[in-house]
Amino acid sequence: MSLLLRNGTVVLADKTFAADVLIEGEFVSEVRAGIPENAAERVIDASGMLLLPGGIDVHTHMDMPFGGTTSSDDFLTGTRAAAFGGTTTIVDFAIQARGTRMRDALDTWWGKAEGKACIDYGLHMIVTDLGTSGLEDMDDLVREGVASFKLFMAYPNVLMVDDGTIFKALSQTSKNGALVCMHAENGGAIDVIVQRTLAEGKTAPIYHALSRPVTAEAEAVHRAIALAEMAHAPVYIVHLSSEAALNQVREARDRGLPAFAETCPHYLLLSIDEMDRPNFEGAKYVLTPPLREKENLPKLWDGLKHDHLQVVSTDHCPFCFADQKVLGKDDFTKIPNGGPGVENRLQLIYHHGVNQGKLSLNRFVELVATSPARIFGMYPKKGTIAPGSDADIVIWDPEAELTIGVATHHMRVDYSMFEGFQVKGNTRQVISRGEVIVDGGKFLGKPGRGNYLRRAARGGAWK
Ligand code: URP
Ligand code: ZN
Ligand code: ZN
Repeated sequence: MSLLLRNGTVVLADKTFAADVLIEGEFVSEVRAGIPENAAERVIDASGMLLLPGGIDVHTHMDMPFGGTTSSDDFLTGTRAAAFGGTTTIVDFAIQARGTRMRDALDTWWGKAEGKACIDYGLHMIVTDLGTSGLEDMDDLVREGVASFKLFMAYPNVLMVDDGTIFKALSQTSKNGALVCMHAENGGAIDVIVQRTLAEGKTAPIYHALSRPVTAEAEAVHRAIALAEMAHAPVYIVHLSSEAALNQVREARDRGLPAFAETCPHYLLLSIDEMDRPNFEGAKYVLTPPLREKENLPKLWDGLKHDHLQVVSTDHCPFCFADQKVLGKDDFTKIPNGGPGVENRLQLIYHHGVNQGKLSLNRFVELVATSPARIFGMYPKKGTIAPGSDADIVIWDPEAELTIGVATHHMRVDYSMFEGFQVKGNTRQVISRGEVIVDGGKFLGKPGRGNYLRRAARGGAWK
């Protein structure tokens, strides 16, 4: 099947130009003005539309066990929702259970995605235990296209690993070319504050945020970067939430270190004030690191603009308010951590970034598609519109208006952190490997059509 997108404006990370895009099968074959209408079996008129590389969200948690429950979107509902919002690739996290091989976790997560994923997906591996064979297992996983590993400096006794383990993992990636992704918060100190807080009878959702200070994040970011420097390895800080943490990344980059970081729409647009909502509604915003004081928000936008931050991901980790968040009604530590977002990333960042003059159109594309593709070993298959690339293309209507919320979203979750946010700019059609999977608000893709992506090590992280 061939498909011609005519009269659109192609937006890439480094340029914007009027062009037609010819797609043959799953790939882009030509990008230029004046491709004749009879060049393809199907023609879509893209006049007035922007043609963007499909969005890449490198931080999602579909069907993820957490605190006795499981995130409410699985690979079907979550990737379908992602597609509605213009994301055509996700990289999700498999979790090594302590005392087991990473390979088992990879098989488990392939099983979760099998027959369900509606868009292409890659996997990071969360390392909880190096045991005796963990370093060789990491090499084995890199050969399977798992080119990144997440390690936790928080959640003692569950996911947290010590500095020696982090240093060993970083040293291994300096050889095998994978990228270590760090959840950077000082889990030991936080745990002491949490216990003190509970002992004082403070159990409401807001205390989740108050027991995880900014300094605990900044210290851990500093330590993660120092360990990476000693190991001669790059490092990527996930879900960075505060100015203090950002300063650590900026300082490292200014010294020429290969330190990278992402932030998420909720840290850019919401503050700790949300957590004071009555009737336990603050629980909707319990995620980690927590929402911060609003003074941080413009600093993060500035970090995106000046490349101190390289990626916007969502950390999509939804739990329903009615029957999951409520598990922590009497104790904030039992509220499952995480919030929904995979569907609304492009809409929110386009509206609040591009429309409001904080980001150029090209920087927007770089943050939501090109830079994640490069850093995580998917470029130029993903993250651009060029001959030979996968035909993952969003036909973006810059004039389309949307009110974000449960009434309009497709994520399997009973609330939105952005309920009532009005945005301008939304998908009209979404194309994944040459197939129109979303058209005018209808989903046309088949569950299971998404392919597992074998990602390359050294995916541009050194450039
Ligand atoms: O609260 C969060 N972020 N939940 C997902 C797990 C993680 O740390 O990314
Ligand atoms: Zn994390
Ligand atoms: Zn996460």
